[in-house]
Amino acid sequence: MKTVADIPILSGQTFSGHATEFRTTQAAIFLRLARELGDLGQIRFFKFPLVVLCAPELAHEALVEKQKSFEKSLATKMMFYPFAGRGLFTSEGEPWRKQRKLMAPLFHPRAIEGYAPMMNDVITRCLDDWKDGQILDAGREMTRITMGIAAKVLFDADTLDESDEISAAIRAMFNYLGEQTASVSIFVRANLAQLLLLPEHLPAPLERAREAMIEALHRPVPLPTAERRKLFAAIRTVDDRIQRMITDRRQKGGDRPDLLSRLLAARDEDDGSFMNDRQVRDEAMTLFIAGHETTATSTTWCLYFLARHPEVYRRWKQEVSGLSGKIPTAEEASRLEYTRGVFREALRFYPPAFAIDRVAIEDVEVGGYHLPKMTSIIVPIHALHRRASIFPDPERFDPTRFSAENEAKRPRGAYMPFGAGPRVCIGATFATLEAELLLAQIAQRFDFEPVSDAPIGPDYTAVLRPERPVLLRVRARRAA
Ligand code: HEM
Repeated sequence: MKTVADIPILSGQTFSGHATEFRTTQAAIFLRLARELGDLGQIRFFKFPLVVLCAPELAHEALVEKQKSFEKSLATKMMFYPFAGRGLFTSEGEPWRKQRKLMAPLFHPRAIEGYAPMMNDVITRCLDDWKDGQILDAGREMTRITMGIAAKVLFDADTLDESDEISAAIRAMFNYLGEQTASVSIFVRANLAQLLLLPEHLPAPLERAREAMIEALHRPVPLPTAERRKLFAAIRTVDDRIQRMITDRRQKGGDRPDLLSRLLAARDEDDGSFMNDRQVRDEAMTLFIAGHETTATSTTWCLYFLARHPEVYRRWKQEVSGLSGKIPTAEEASRLEYTRGVFREALRFYPPAFAIDRVAIEDVEVGGYHLPKMTSIIVPIHALHRRASIFPDPERFDPTRFSAENEAKRPRGAYMPFGAGPRVCIGATFATLEAELLLAQIAQRFDFEPVSDAPIGPDYTAVLRPERPVLLRVRARRAA
């Protein structure tokens, strides 16, 4: 049986393996690996291997078929822990299963259809502020809208007037994530924690000591740097806002069909206890952040690509004109195939979650290779989406790749901006509806063009945001 040692190593190793290159290029290193090694390869952090699965069938095998043999990597959990705590994104096993079950009804397609009027209302209010002839910072506006939608639908709260302050704080958190993704310290800490996990069945006192050490490794190193101070200040800002939503709801009471009511009313299946404030906070914070930042980034890319591709722009406008100026319902939005294609193609091009990493929790075989327990693997979604055999001419922006006919032909594991397997994004349908409604209302009310022809690439940090602001000149359309 072939082992990790037989998996080709990416060229260009130094004393620290590929840590230095990863630090500077982040997601781009996986594009180089896919180009040089094809379906499967490894990069090294010092001596620690990270197995990179670039082929759809390997991604599917690990994330779906053999999902029971893997958990989210400790590096990811450690990076998200300071703000997401032990919420749905970072938990595992039984606690994860209970949380997912609790949230599932809120993300059921039927429930999501019911959110359309609230989503439309936030979008309309935000678009009312756009002025004819104005130069718009698309990223800032998309953040204001998607944050407003997340706050309204999940917490029945209004953030439109304070979105700049909250988004600056969230940006600081994502900067920390970017800094951590590139930092060797996170991999050293994660590998230390993984080593601690290796001995099984320890006597109780040692087990408690192990848990305490792993918990300590999760916390950000309290360096007295300006960046770290910014991180803690940012967490406080968002925490305060979330806490206000929780306190407000506890005071006003009332059983609304939103996330907060569900969290506050939830009882543990086994002992009937309610969630404590920390658990409610972790869950709310996870959903609030995961629920808007990624959608803001991908809708910003939609506007960027639309503005630069006149033919795509024309077809998009033409499709939306079929609504005759009426704000679409969820059902009507779901029929906007080309508009959805724009969103899905933007997610193919620059998937905000550009990679999914896991660690083997038992010995497992993937692609015919034996991976021992604690082997780290990663699926570079960004590189996967650029396979010319599946997406011909991958650097061309083409929404027709996502026509129903083309989608049906695509092999499984080839397109996964929302992940795959049991940990697949719970908010995928939510995000898609939100993007459809948003793009439809924009098409109905505005025309726009880029302020500059200079191309903008992605910033290869946590969510592949545009590296510079996407500035658009908007023109109000006259009512028909
Ligand atoms: C998980 C991407 C929107 C909430 C994930 C994962 C990906 C992803 C790739 C899987 C991570 C992994 O397997 O390690 C995206 C993208 C979005 C988006 C690209 C928008 C374009 C949303 C929205 C919400 C949300 C709107 C909530 C309202 C979550 C949560 C998880 C998750 C809670 C963790 C699920 C679990 O582990 O059970 N997302 N997401 N996401 N997403 Fe999203």
